[in-house]
Amino acid sequence: MRTKIVAGNWKMNNDLKASKSLAKKIVKSIKKTALKNIRVIIAPTFVNLERVAKKTKGTKVEVAAQNMHFEKSGAFTGEVSAEMIKAVGSKIVILGHSERRQYFGETDEILVKKVNAALANKMEVIFCFGEILEDRKENNHFKVVESQLKNGLFHLKAKDFKNIILAYEPVWAIGTGETASPEQAQEMHAFIRKILTDNYDEYTAESISILYGGSVKPANAKEIFSKQDVDGGLIGGAALNKDAFKAIIDAI
Ligand code: PGA
Repeated sequence: MRTKIVAGNWKMNNDLKASKSLAKKIVKSIKKTALKNIRVIIAPTFVNLERVAKKTKGTKVEVAAQNMHFEKSGAFTGEVSAEMIKAVGSKIVILGHSERRQYFGETDEILVKKVNAALANKMEVIFCFGEILEDRKENNHFKVVESQLKNGLFHLKAKDFKNIILAYEPVWAIGTGETASPEQAQEMHAFIRKILTDNYDEYTAESISILYGGSVKPANAKEIFSKQDVDGGLIGGAALNKDAFKAIIDAI
């Protein structure tokens, strides 16, 4: 049985006080919920990672970083390594988010190095990918997703995929209020499993969790999560509100 996951990507939101407060509220709100086979992850900014990790230690809530550099240390001003993230209590990292690709020039080549560094450090990777609107309009979305996966991940061995969580996030649906329809999400997730089967094996394809991301909110979560190949969500805007985030967890 695949693990269901609800991950909140806080992006560049929440200062220290707000981060601690939201983390505390999320821990409290899910305390009484039976979370069998469901993981809840939150990703604060680097500066608040340590405090949020402390607040959530020993609870059902796990903490992820939003990015990472591939080198261990050195002259890379403004960057943070896997070792540093682990040292403050997080073993999960989001890589390849479309905002990183779009605004910070993150390429497939850079992502390969980051994925390798994370796995070498025994971290789990939430690997994001997804097409832009033009790709979909021109019916290129399957081709684009396949190439992002091949270029970013398919150098890995099958066994490495136990530390990878996939997050399909159509760029046109991120922060826009426009979601892929549950059918569009299901269609793409099934396609992803097919290319994993073709390039690896059925076990790898069937055991990996594939999250959908892009304007998931309490009102649409249940329908999206009901699709057979959708194993949860990567949530942006709605993860900043404890009630909305809890409602999305409850929808799984
Ligand atoms: P959104 O963001 O839920 O605000 O669309 C999702 C994401 O970027 O991971």
